[in-house]
Amino acid sequence: MPDRYALFGHPLAHTKSPMIHGAFARDTGQDLSYEAIEAPVGGFAAAVDAFRARGGRGINVTQPFKVDAFEYATELCARAKAAGAVNCMKFEGARAIAENFDGVGLVNDIERNLGFALAGKRVLMMGAGGAARGAVLPLLSGGPALFAIANRTIAKAKSLGRHFAGHARLVTGGYGDFGDEPFDVVINATSASLRGELPPLDPRVFAVGGLACDMVYGKGMTPFLRLAWNAGAGRLADGVGMLAEQAAEAFEWWRGVRPPTAPMIRKLAVPLA
Ligand code: ATR
Repeated sequence: MPDRYALFGHPLAHTKSPMIHGAFARDTGQDLSYEAIEAPVGGFAAAVDAFRARGGRGINVTQPFKVDAFEYATELCARAKAAGAVNCMKFEGARAIAENFDGVGLVNDIERNLGFALAGKRVLMMGAGGAARGAVLPLLSGGPALFAIANRTIAKAKSLGRHFAGHARLVTGGYGDFGDEPFDVVINATSASLRGELPPLDPRVFAVGGLACDMVYGKGMTPFLRLAWNAGAGRLADGVGMLAEQAAEAFEWWRGVRPPTAPMIRKLAVPLA
């Protein structure tokens, strides 16, 4: 019997995770199965209990269950605690150990795949929801000279900043507060691109030759990426690399072997043009 893993979310119609983990298993010679389980909203804990009773060894968690998974966990790793959300768990007897690899997946993509070291750079992140919160600690760990968080609802940016109080290089504000000085890396962690929307970002935030990164994937050239390109950003990326890298982190955590991500990123990439 292969070891069982699954993704829990709702809805899950377009998920790439079973394909990604299936390919990782083949590439590394691991005997495992990975399924998508669309648990009912409000029924996360019961569905995970049932999966564990069937021998489930670990799970990924996506919307809307990342906070339910945080509450379900018996042990929270530092990144999950900082994110206030869980995207990955492994089960060992009665233990449900929880992680969050979304942010580290983003940082690995930026630093290893896209070749932008964060150390000493000026980094701006848009958004203050769950996706943004998961990215703060990994981005700060990269050692930027300045890390700015801009959000439409300024109070939410300030509240997110307070979770990470003590980091001298962290500043928060509204979109109108940023534009006087360019940023080397600008990350869109809002959900605006999902609806073809664009937060009111001053195009002067983009350093000429810098990196613009949208966390959404499969949407091609979003309004945010187009703004960045027109403003002179030299490199554009969507969330495909982040998706593959967080999956690789999970896979390695579960199985002790790191799968290659480059073939998967090539396979999933949508041209940005
Ligand atoms: P997620 O968990 O995916 O981050 P969320 O918690 O609903 O989702 O947060 C969505 C984020 O996208 C928020 O930062 C939101 O800004 P507000 O806090 O001001 O609502 C941001 N967002 C969504 N659509 C936007 C738009 N059209 N313009 C600006 N910001 C937008």
